Parts: sequence; C-alpha cells; structure tokens
Amino acid sequence: MQIDIHNLNFSYGHRQVLADLSLTVKPGDYVVIQGKNGSGKSTLAKCLLGFNPVKSGMIFYNHEDINTFSDWTQFGYVPQEFEDFNYEFPVTVDELLTFSSIKNINQSRRLKLLDQIGILDLVNENINNLSGGQLQRVFIVRAMLNDPDVLILDEPAASIDRMNINFFYKAVNQLNLEGITVILITHNESLNHLNYSHVLNLGTDLSYTYQTRESCEIGGHDQ
Ligand SMILES: Nc1ncnc2c1ncn2[C@@H]1O[C@H](COP(=O)(O)OP(=O)(O)OP(=O)(O)O)[C@@H](O)[C@H]1O
Ligand SMILES: [Mg+2]
Repeated sequence: MQIDIHNLNFSYGHRQVLADLSLTVKPGDYVVIQGKNGSGKSTLAKCLLGFNPVKSGMIFYNHEDINTFSDWTQFGYVPQEFEDFNYEFPVTVDELLTFSSIKNINQSRRLKLLDQIGILDLVNENINNLSGGQLQRVFIVRAMLNDPDVLILDEPAASIDRMNINFFYKAVNQLNLEGITVILITHNESLNHLNYSHVLNLGTDLSYTYQTRESCEIGGHDQ
C-alpha cells in the first residue's frame, strides 16, 4: 500500500500538533517515527487510521482519499494506550483473537504466537482482567494474525519484557521482508536490530525531518 501525506495539519482545539507534513511511504517501507513526548507521534498514527479526522491537508492510500477509504482491514494497529479499553462482552483472549481474525487462522499458529510473545498462560483469561502490557501483547498477536498490508505499532516495546522483545522485532522484520509496510513509533532506542528503511523525526516545535536509513547513518557520523 502506498501512503501519500500532503501538507497535513492537525490540531486539538487550539493546540496545533502537526504542521504541513508531507511524505510518501512506498509499499514495503519500514518507517520508524521518533520524537520527544508530545511531538505528535500517536496523533499522526491516529490520523493515518482515521481516528483523528483529517481536515487540513490530505492522505491517500493507493491514491484513494482517506475520507472515502473504507478497507480498514488492510491495517493492523497496536495502540499505545489501553486505559480506556473495556470490552463489552466477557471474552477470553482466545475468543477475541478468533473473532477478530479476518482470515481463518488455525489454532496452532495462534497459540504459537501467544507463546512466543510470552502470554500463552493467558489464553483463557477474560480480556477485561489483563494489565495494559498484557493487553498490548494480545493486540500485537491480533495485528500479526490478520496479515495486514500496513502494520502501525505505537511504542510496542514499552510493555514487552526484554526476553520477548527480540522475538517481537524479528517477527516484525520478517513481516516487512514479506512485503508488509511497517510504521513503528519508538523513542530513545537503538534501531540497529530493526529492518527500517526511513526515519520520520517529529520535533516539539512542529518541525520534522524524513530521511532514508542511509542518509540518517551518514548524518549520524557527522554529529
Ligand atoms: N485527545 C487529545 N486531546 C487534546 N490534546 C491531545 C490529545 N491527544 C494528544 N494531545 C496533545 O497533543 C500533543 C501530541 O500528543 P501525542 O500523544 O501525539 O504525542 P506523542 O509524540 O505520541 O507523545 P508520547 O511520546 O508521550 O507518546 C501533546 O501535546 C498532547 O498533550
Ligand atoms: Mg504517543
């Protein structure tokens, strides 16, 4: 999926968070979004997912305007915040993953992913009883099971323990090698083990830079 962002502005009331942001993400790119707290990383993810309506500027998916785009099953999303999460029905982790799989995924693949990400013991737990970090890992499994075209991950490493983080990044690299576009929000972290192709750096002063991996690495040596 090609993503074109043209002159995107976004404000919450009078607080402007994104200003005149333009970039293209080509199919199969792996974009890391970095920036300090409050620089607008999660806001941009929510714009891309249609949760924050775009009123100024444009976003296109394969040349289709986001305002008419409807095939959201092409997106896998792991949000940063789960505090407001309260599922209406008392479903278990396994049930949630089964209902929300668009494709018919066999149970052994589901259980294997749960195991690799360290939450197999929660498979029959009611999802309303999970901690934020546990729930985030369930959403990571869910996003991976659906074979999305674009995977948007908002600070997934924050709640995964060290033992499972390498598995997680390897799995994301593998999905990217298979052609999935990855948009990963992260801060203060070494990117060496990631397969990324581009870095979008958001400033808290509404500025931004968008660079390829090669130009970041050259720039990095100059500092
Ligand atoms: N729903 C909202 N209503 C009003 N202001 C908001 C809302 N969500 C975010 N903001 C403000 O917008 C700015 C950007 O927030 P955002 O969550 O996008 O930052 P972030 O880069 O993801 O930060 P962090 O690294 O802390 O996750 C912040 O100043 C924040 O206070
Ligand atoms: Mg955020």
